[in-house]
Amino acid sequence: MRRVRQIAVATATVLTGALALTACGSSDSGDSSADAGLSVGSAYMPQPVSDSMAAGFLVITNKGAAGDVLTHVTSDIAGDVTVHKTVGQTMEEAERLDIPAHGELVLQSGGDHLMFEQLKRKPREGDKVAVQLHFAKTSPITVEMPVKSATYNPKTGH
Ligand code: CU
Repeated sequence: MRRVRQIAVATATVLTGALALTACGSSDSGDSSADAGLSVGSAYMPQPVSDSMAAGFLVITNKGAAGDVLTHVTSDIAGDVTVHKTVGQTMEEAERLDIPAHGELVLQSGGDHLMFEQLKRKPREGDKVAVQLHFAKTSPITVEMPVKSATYNPKTGH
């Protein structure tokens, strides 16, 4: 009985995720990368509290048979964009960001994340922030990252 219920919950979660992608994933998961099988989804930036720094999250999926590497990230709103790892209570710059064949690179709240520094303007909820992802092999992918509320949780959509 309990087992059946867990399966039902898992199915509901998957369905919710699929609906969320249908609703807001079309503009930020560009199809420009068909050549090497990379696609970007689940991108968002919580409205930053700080005037100088902001975090961003996304998932890069690799459907291809060859791995790739995220080499650097740029954005017109920030003087510098790096990928940070969360280590305990502190953050440090991640060195190598592999996107394995048939795998994904997940940047999510509480884990690895994009760090926008030297902000040129402060993003507000409802804005879109253009972010360019540069790879070792695949040509750059531009993502229009929606700015959500400061407390946005992608699992609930609020
Ligand atoms: Cu950080």
